[in-house]
Amino acid sequence: MGLRILIIGCGGREHALAWKCRQSPKVERVLAAPGGTGMGDLASSYAVEPDDIPGLVDLAAKERVDFAIVGPEAPLLDGIVDAFAAAGIDAYGPTKAAAVLEGSKSEAKRFMNRWNIPTAAHRTCTNQEEAFEFLEAQGLPVVVKADGLAAGKGVVVAMSEEEAKQAIEHLLTPGNCIVMEEFMVGEEVSLLSFVDGDVVVPMEFAQDHKPVFDGDRGPNTGGMGAYSPVPQFGREVMAEALETIVKPTARAMVKEGRPFRGVLYTGLMITDEGPKVVEYNVRFGDPEAQALLPRLETDLVDIICATFAGRLHEIQVQWKPEAACAVVAASQGYPGPYAMDKKIRGDVSSRRPDSVVFHSGTKRRVGRFVTAGGRVLTVTGFGPDLFDAMAAAYGRLDEIHFEGMHYRTDIGWQAAARGAKRVAVH
Ligand code: AMP
Ligand code: GLY
Repeated sequence: MGLRILIIGCGGREHALAWKCRQSPKVERVLAAPGGTGMGDLASSYAVEPDDIPGLVDLAAKERVDFAIVGPEAPLLDGIVDAFAAAGIDAYGPTKAAAVLEGSKSEAKRFMNRWNIPTAAHRTCTNQEEAFEFLEAQGLPVVVKADGLAAGKGVVVAMSEEEAKQAIEHLLTPGNCIVMEEFMVGEEVSLLSFVDGDVVVPMEFAQDHKPVFDGDRGPNTGGMGAYSPVPQFGREVMAEALETIVKPTARAMVKEGRPFRGVLYTGLMITDEGPKVVEYNVRFGDPEAQALLPRLETDLVDIICATFAGRLHEIQVQWKPEAACAVVAASQGYPGPYAMDKKIRGDVSSRRPDSVVFHSGTKRRVGRFVTAGGRVLTVTGFGPDLFDAMAAAYGRLDEIHFEGMHYRTDIGWQAAARGAKRVAVH
């Protein structure tokens, strides 16, 4: 009998996970909680929310799933993997103790200090005096971050003293510290790795686009698009990031008695002094997953099963040579308050040889899709190189419309500006 897999979450990332799992010959059924109508017949959706951990454990037990894959960070921070383990069910992702790398920026910084993992100079501040002192000593620009999860909205890059002071006052609330950071100069790239204890199997690089508007202008979002591979960063950068950041992180987590299992996402700044950590995430990125998973040649289910069996080191992960460009279409107003319930026109369902649509925030109303989130869908285009992938994604997006729809027209610009010659990383 084939495997039954439960995917937790409902966004574009989870749609891509369901899509990838269904391609595995070992899989009999994919269930999703809460999933989404956009997943179509890839998965059966169950109305259990990701924060209802006992409900999810019950569902997994009742439906006799072989294992769960946890998409979003919130349940990981709440200990969903520990709760599944207590019920004797595997869940792919880190334990609560390991998920702190994403859950608390101040904890993550302390961890990096303890183990000499390169990151921005910083100070955790519990009051304004400390923050102003750091500002005085560091100069501008300076970065001010809220400590906990903030869906990309708790970070201010302040260019003026005025802006810095406002951010400090706004983010420093009673009982919540902030992290003040040196502004790092360089280009950002996401490196996601399959990790089990001290075994690290890196994926290829992907690059996210956080600001809402073209040219990296406007407020930060959860991510407006991503592409992979990232030809401007070759083997040497990958090797350096692995040796100075990802492997030391994995080893240190083992030494601290909270081994990491799952996808470790290191948000990197490639500076003149080498790669440095901007942030850790403890799960697949969204929209990085929508660019990376379609490029993954190896069966994702094999990678996850090998991890549960303590055999991740035996896996050779292969990538398709083609490039992928994932563009997010968002609702009017996003990342602020946004409009919903707008009819979506165009083909948002079929898989074509050169593109696929992953649903992030849609629902069905009288037989047709309407918008139901800030990020509505992600269109991933494929092609022999990045330019072809961009053309495929934007060509398909041209056929899709909803009132107030907006997307960045420059996903991939940093690679495109350099000619986008493909450089294989592995
Ligand atoms: P974070 O939530 O920590 O990933 O921060 C969101 C975004 O703010 C990052 O993707 C960067 O673009 C920017 N950022 C954060 N920290 C720094 C830093 N120390 N230097 C430069 N940019 C930063
Ligand atoms: N794309 C950034 C994230 O998933 O956090």
